[in-house]
Amino acid sequence: MIDPAVFSRFSSLLSLRSARLPLRYGVYLFSLCGLVVSLLGLALDSDWGWAVAGFGLLAALGTYDLLQSRRTVSRNYPILAHFRYGLESIGPEIRQYFIQTDTEGWPFSREQRSVVYQRAKNTLDKKPFGSVHDMYAEGYEWLSPSLMPERIDSHDFRITIGRDRTKPYSASVFNISAMSFGSLSANAISALNGGARLGNFYHDTGEGSISPYHRQGGDLVWEIGSGYFGCRNEDGTFSEERFVAGATLEQVRMIEIKLSQGAKPGHGGILPGAKVTQEIASTRGVPVGMDVISPSTHSAFTTPLEMMAFIARLRELSGGKPVGIKLTIGHPWEWFGLVKAMLKSGEHPDFIVVDGGEGGTGAAPLEFINRLGMPLTEALLLVHNTLAGTDLRDKIHIGAAGKIVSAFDIARTIALGADWCNAARGYMFSLGCIQARTCHTDRCPSGVATQDTRRGNKLDVTDKSQRVYHFHDNTLKALAEMLAAAGLRDTSELGPEHILRRVSRTEIQPFAALFPYLTRGELLDGAPQHTVFRDYWHASRADSFHAPASVAALRTSKLL
Ligand SMILES: Cc1cc2nc3c(=O)[nH]c(=O)nc-3n(C[C@H](O)[C@H](O)[C@H](O)COP(=O)(O)O)c2cc1C
Repeated sequence: MIDPAVFSRFSSLLSLRSARLPLRYGVYLFSLCGLVVSLLGLALDSDWGWAVAGFGLLAALGTYDLLQSRRTVSRNYPILAHFRYGLESIGPEIRQYFIQTDTEGWPFSREQRSVVYQRAKNTLDKKPFGSVHDMYAEGYEWLSPSLMPERIDSHDFRITIGRDRTKPYSASVFNISAMSFGSLSANAISALNGGARLGNFYHDTGEGSISPYHRQGGDLVWEIGSGYFGCRNEDGTFSEERFVAGATLEQVRMIEIKLSQGAKPGHGGILPGAKVTQEIASTRGVPVGMDVISPSTHSAFTTPLEMMAFIARLRELSGGKPVGIKLTIGHPWEWFGLVKAMLKSGEHPDFIVVDGGEGGTGAAPLEFINRLGMPLTEALLLVHNTLAGTDLRDKIHIGAAGKIVSAFDIARTIALGADWCNAARGYMFSLGCIQARTCHTDRCPSGVATQDTRRGNKLDVTDKSQRVYHFHDNTLKALAEMLAAAGLRDTSELGPEHILRRVSRTEIQPFAALFPYLTRGELLDGAPQHTVFRDYWHASRADSFHAPASVAALRTSKLL
């Protein structure tokens, strides 16, 4: 115990001292004194040169800190403040290396990353002793096992997309989600495509179009964003002629029109001119060294019906390949408008990829990453239910992306309503990404998300292609084991009755009871009672994305 009287005397002494000579200037004053002493020493002996240099640098830094006006903390704590800034900048690494437990770490926990690394390296992915998860915590989910497990001979689970088209595609249930050459390095793209070739699954190009690095023989899904990279006229509009050249490549198996992405829905993009190298320019069909703008909306269509016509046109131009869309769910009336356009025109996409709000990006504003776009579970349910309710579900396959890395993630997502899953960051881990979260700085330590060739070229394409292949292969092996334990033979047999969720410490519910599911054609007969359909289905329009009159009316008054 400290005597309070002694304590108060000590603190008043300190405040007296700091009024005359603030302690926080101590290091700065010490370096000034050190500089003077070492200069005197230098007059006697040249060995003092190092001390002069050291104290000189510190004294210069402290003087700069005092004179600058951007950082108040540095002015108040010359030199010392840099320790704070330094420690703060390596905070994530310190937490990751020393503090985080297996189940902590965002967006992906150490456990999630480790299983990808182990599967990618084809090393032991088994765990000892027991689960480290709290199975009584709200939100905990699991797959129901069966007393009659099955035997599954092949883990190559596949689905056929665009069955009635001229060139249907047989896709794996676990593919590489869109990431462009530009956000990922050349070697990363080559390794992803090489892995896709080895494992016979697909690699989505991302909106940056098809680069030479994508041409390693792996199946491609060519993503067409609002910038129409690789298929644009000089003014940035869509070019049919250039589209045909890319879409008819043998390697391109499907076309995906990107409407939005979970991490930054409704946000266009700009690739600064400095990053538009000769290679990127020729891949994207833009001038070298000029800023490249991705607008936030497409210019090829402005209404749901026009979009259906565009989809049909792309299919025709590609020679009958499946054409789909990728979107993040926002206003329900816009999504319903799309479905109504499908019903009205008789045209529909062959697939829809639902990207959850929890999805990743190379760079986006914080608010977009955190606060725009519906998370995957609800978005997928809405898409699946609307298609089931309009009797379109048999014709349109659903893919899903959003933090899917393990076999359970795949099983859960398919049970909810998807036909297959994509992963972006999971495959980045398989390339060696360490979740440093520096994709936007061009200083990615693992050479994955950078255009700095000195970093990117260190990524060994042959080795990493193998890892991409093994990650896919071992994850699907694990999926086969899970399905077999649940008494199922194929992913298509998974349903919402198979996954259970703890909703309180004393209550659990299967997905089938937790979420409302529409019956086939239910929406065609009238609006069901579920709020979102009751409020917006009837009012949504095939000829406009605009808010229905009932919603627009609310904007003139805040009264609901
Ligand atoms: C580095 C990076 C680049 C991306 N680039 C694109 C892109 O060009 N087009 C796109 O539709 N999505 C892009 N995405 C989003 C992913 O394709 C994916 O939809 C999202 O990250 C969710 O998957 P994940 O949780 O497995 O990462 C990108 C994601 C990352 C991490």
